[in-house]
Amino acid sequence: MEPVVRMRNIVKTFGSVRALQGVDLDLYGGEVLALLGDNGAGKSTLIKILSGLHSPDSGEMEIEGRLVDWKRYTVAVARASGVETVYQERSLGEKQPLWRNVFVGRHVLKGFFRRIDVEREKAATMELLSGFLGLRGAGLNAESQVRTLSGGERQGLAIARAMYFDASIIVLDEPTTALGAGEVRKVLSFVDRIRSEGRCCVFISHELHHVHEIADRFAVMEHGRIAAVRDRSDTSLDELARLVLLGGAVPPTEQKGEDV
Ligand SMILES: Nc1ncnc2c1ncn2[C@@H]1O[C@H](COP(=O)(O)OP(=O)(O)OP(=O)(O)O)[C@@H](O)[C@H]1O
Ligand SMILES: [Mg+2]
Repeated sequence: MEPVVRMRNIVKTFGSVRALQGVDLDLYGGEVLALLGDNGAGKSTLIKILSGLHSPDSGEMEIEGRLVDWKRYTVAVARASGVETVYQERSLGEKQPLWRNVFVGRHVLKGFFRRIDVEREKAATMELLSGFLGLRGAGLNAESQVRTLSGGERQGLAIARAMYFDASIIVLDEPTTALGAGEVRKVLSFVDRIRSEGRCCVFISHELHHVHEIADRFAVMEHGRIAAVRDRSDTSLDELARLVLLGGAVPPTEQKGEDV
């Protein structure tokens, strides 16, 4: 299967800090890839390059077989290419009604004067709430404020929004941090939905229980490099914990003749 995203030899420095020292990574449709590693390993820097926030010093990236021109690759271009990043805090405005949040930055416009089509945006928001989040009859509607949603529901709304705009790669930066057990369940089930629709989810987390449960592959970063990539099918939770702790320096218990 051809990868949706192919990154090759990505290098990024910030002054004297070598944040990424030649990263190769492929992402596939229908998979959840967990990006793991210690603080400062380079995870956020890598996904910021994928989402168009940073340009690398050097390296190549293809999205659906097309080579990215770094000079033109902005957040808007990344989105238009199907890459959506859900940040834990910044993505949703607390006091905004839900429908405004869903469409912020890309409203549905109508008529000669290109006015925002509020009715259509509200209707689409209701559809996301009941269809995707399963919030039918929970007293929530398109006019509700974001602050009335629980942490898991906020993540869900952000993920639903990404899916509504037809993202093929959805990046989640620590989506379960600071959530209670029930809310974590919700987020994991949303991630499962991303996969079952054949899209790709990049899931950054330090919470290995969640990661091991939800991801198909694990990529462990250390000092700006991918130190190990493992399939869930031949990596136990213990082994994953050791991999992350030792920065990938753990021999596999048995070598399976896997090919991707
Ligand atoms: N904008 C920036 N300016 C300067 N240095 C940066 C910048 N962004 C990241 N760095 C540095 O690059 C390195 C990699 O940081 P990055 O944020 O990618 O790590 P991370 O793996 O996401 O860590 P964490 O798990 O703590 O989020 C760190 O040494 C960090 O200090
Ligand atoms: Mg980070």
